[in-house]
Amino acid sequence: MKNEIKIFSPATVANVACGFDVLGFCLDSIGDEMVIRKTDKKGIHITKIEGFDLPFEAELNVAGVSALAMYEAAKPDCGFEIEIYKNIKPGSGIGSSAASAVGSVFGMNELLGKPYNQTELTQFAIKGEALASKCEHADNLAPALFGGFTLVKSISPLEILEIPSPKNLYATIIHPQIEIKTSESRAILPKEIPLQDAITQWSNFGSLIHSLHTSDYELLQRSLHDVIVEPHRSKLIPHYKEAKKAALQHGALGAGISGSGPSIFTLSKGLENANKVQDALEKVYSKTGIAFEIHVTKINTEGIKIL
Ligand code: HSE
Repeated sequence: MKNEIKIFSPATVANVACGFDVLGFCLDSIGDEMVIRKTDKKGIHITKIEGFDLPFEAELNVAGVSALAMYEAAKPDCGFEIEIYKNIKPGSGIGSSAASAVGSVFGMNELLGKPYNQTELTQFAIKGEALASKCEHADNLAPALFGGFTLVKSISPLEILEIPSPKNLYATIIHPQIEIKTSESRAILPKEIPLQDAITQWSNFGSLIHSLHTSDYELLQRSLHDVIVEPHRSKLIPHYKEAKKAALQHGALGAGISGSGPSIFTLSKGLENANKVQDALEKVYSKTGIAFEIHVTKINTEGIKIL
């Protein structure tokens, strides 16, 4: 059995407009790399972090906390070293903490001969994710591990459903370079919602899931609306309304806040449309003086992988 493994841990988009805390999808070309190594020395040791300034103490690091959760359950007769090559900026809204949280447990599981299934790995990774967002949610973790679109049917007990991805669906993601902490953008959400909003939201959510199963792009377009979370969180993202309008005018099927923001995701039918949306979003933010990164990617149906 191998003693060392290098992995690609992908970025993800959570919520997908009307699926707050339950729906997510996996991105193709954006992600972190991690090396996980078995050691004689017991325990979890983070030995290298490149890209961003993050804590080396396992108990304070998202990847470390999920690794410790698995380590305590598995009780292996070895330890693990973790190297993190972080490309996804923390606080970007495309699952930075989730990529770290799933990376360590996926790598350790491979090195131990795969004693755990993907749902069990998600369960360990939730502990790491909770360190970052101060609450247990799995809508970034599940798509990072399973790939494609995933629906977190329940957190306790954890139940994850894999939802099919229409073949020709592409995402354009823009990340205005401001930081929004998930814990803070959760704190501004109302605790109660009007019944009429709930009805609109679950009708959109149900039809969104149906559109993914049937590759019905028109229905998908009519379903990507969020009347509950977006009205509050969009205030935290400068030029959000303008960007969304430009994306929709240039052929996006829909647009919304990626996870807790500030990234904005759009979905388009075909690469050509996704590229047009990229140009439109670039134009909006170029005028603002806010630095940004932008990506066009297909839906990654594979999820986390060994390099
Ligand atoms: N569903 C979570 C939220 C995702 O929106 O707060 C955080 O990335």
